[in-house]
Amino acid sequence: MNYRWTNVHIPDLSGKVAVVTGANSGIGFETAKELARNKAIVIMACRNKEKAEASLNNLRSEIPNIRAEVLSLDLSRLESIRNFAALFQEKYNRLDILINNAGIMKISYEQTAEGVEKHFGVNHLGHFALTGLLLNSLLATPGSRVITISSLSHWFGNINFRALKHDAGKRLFPLMAYGRSKLANILFANELQRRLEINGSKTISVAAHPGITVTNLTGHFGNQLYDLLVSPILIRIGQNTAKGALPGLRAATDPDITGGKYIGPTGIWGIKGYPAAVQSSGKSQSSKTAKLLWEISEELTGVHYL
Ligand SMILES: NC(=O)c1ccc[n+]([C@@H]2O[C@H](COP(=O)([O-])OP(=O)(O)OC[C@H]3O[C@@H](n4cnc5c(N)ncnc54)[C@H](OP(=O)(O)O)[C@@H]3O)[C@@H](O)[C@H]2O)c1
Repeated sequence: MNYRWTNVHIPDLSGKVAVVTGANSGIGFETAKELARNKAIVIMACRNKEKAEASLNNLRSEIPNIRAEVLSLDLSRLESIRNFAALFQEKYNRLDILINNAGIMKISYEQTAEGVEKHFGVNHLGHFALTGLLLNSLLATPGSRVITISSLSHWFGNINFRALKHDAGKRLFPLMAYGRSKLANILFANELQRRLEINGSKTISVAAHPGITVTNLTGHFGNQLYDLLVSPILIRIGQNTAKGALPGLRAATDPDITGGKYIGPTGIWGIKGYPAAVQSSGKSQSSKTAKLLWEISEELTGVHYL
């Protein structure tokens, strides 16, 4: 499995339907582009319709005749997630690939519409709810996949369930809050895979991470000091979005990938390089934590599944 996998290895995706969250920029945009280039019908699930339509126009000018459209999705509002899922299911009767890609990494403390710490709310809970609400479409589609984009930052993430319930993580240093949400992404992907297997489903769940990739996320922390000091380092050592999208694309399209894997760059420290199965932290493999996270996620979103 560890050969030099690139976008040329993506198979023909004719007839397949893919949803990519946060597809208007960075890794999501590149992912949508490669899926559409290989003939999938791509739904760009984005919070800012104007920005997303502009990105779709860019995509169309680069690759004419693609099949893609924008549907509104704000992962920080449960109502928006429900509306997206309902509209998607009205329009499409299958879902082959769901890429849970959208994400935030901020320095300030913010909350979702439901009052949850925003990194946890958008990066994890929003995708938990979205996947649950789209599950019928996934289960009805042979060979479907759910890909959840995590991060190297999951290594310093920690989930304190009491703090999560009582103060929504207010006292958490924001980058730790980001790490917590990215740890939740892998725990979620693994628990989803376990539950799919128990249910005898052929749908698979795979986690991936893009190493360090130069995008808006690495350039705009929303804090002058970080933008001045940290961003230039990330820009220097990071890879471009075409390479950063490869782990998620391999997870989504390589027939050799099996459920429960974690796909990331194989270069030094996992920062860059060709994508293949890599190791995630011990914490991310705890089935006990994953089960607890699943239960609290159901409670916080009101979305119950599997
Ligand atoms: N870049 C890296 O080095 C790196 C490293 C590890 C992991 N990642 C992960 O890779 C994924 C993609 O990030 P990126 O680097 O490509 O960053 P990006 O260019 O900032 O893209 C993030 C995307 O998420 C969208 N988004 C943010 N909040 C949202 C919300 N409430 N509802 C719906 N969409 C929302 C953004 O929409 P707007 O354009 O409207 O803001 C944007 O489309 C994230 O999950 C991130 O954690 C990135």
